[in-house]
Amino acid sequence: FEGENAFITTDGKKLYHDSCAACHMHKGEGAYGAGYYPPLADNSKMESKYYIIDILINGFRGMPSFHGMMNDEQMAAVTQYIVNDLNGFNEIVTAEDVAQLRHEKPPASDPSDE
Ligand code: HEC
Repeated sequence: FEGENAFITTDGKKLYHDSCAACHMHKGEGAYGAGYYPPLADNSKMESKYYIIDILINGFRGMPSFHGMMNDEQMAAVTQYIVNDLNGFNEIVTAEDVAQLRHEKPPASDPSDE
């Protein structure tokens, strides 16, 4: 987990399997073991693309930040995969959505504040 834009693909499914499945499992079912990895499939929180994007940018407790590893398009692609393929929600995720959060979000705000 190091290096600027370590991934070159913008295929959301591939990004998911390369960078998320190790912890969240291949179908997004999550895992309980040495740690707790929440499921990303059939998870109602995944209805909000901004929730996912925010976690990708900032990390979330035990979850590493992908800020330096994925560009806006890649974050959008992997978020799209989770929202549509793993959860069946009907939402379009664009690189602009990511750019907006990446650049405009005040660093101190808490993603769990709703
Ligand atoms: C090194 C392990 C690891 C990797 C790799 C990882 N995650 Fe996570 N993720 C976690 C952990 C641990 C949590 C739970 C954090 C907590 O609640 O303390 C989490 C939480 C999340 C959540 C919030 C789930 C919820 O129900 O609130 C999302 C969304 C998420 N991860 C998306 C991703 C995506 C997308 C990727 C790939 C780009 C990814 N994660 C890669 C460990 C990982």
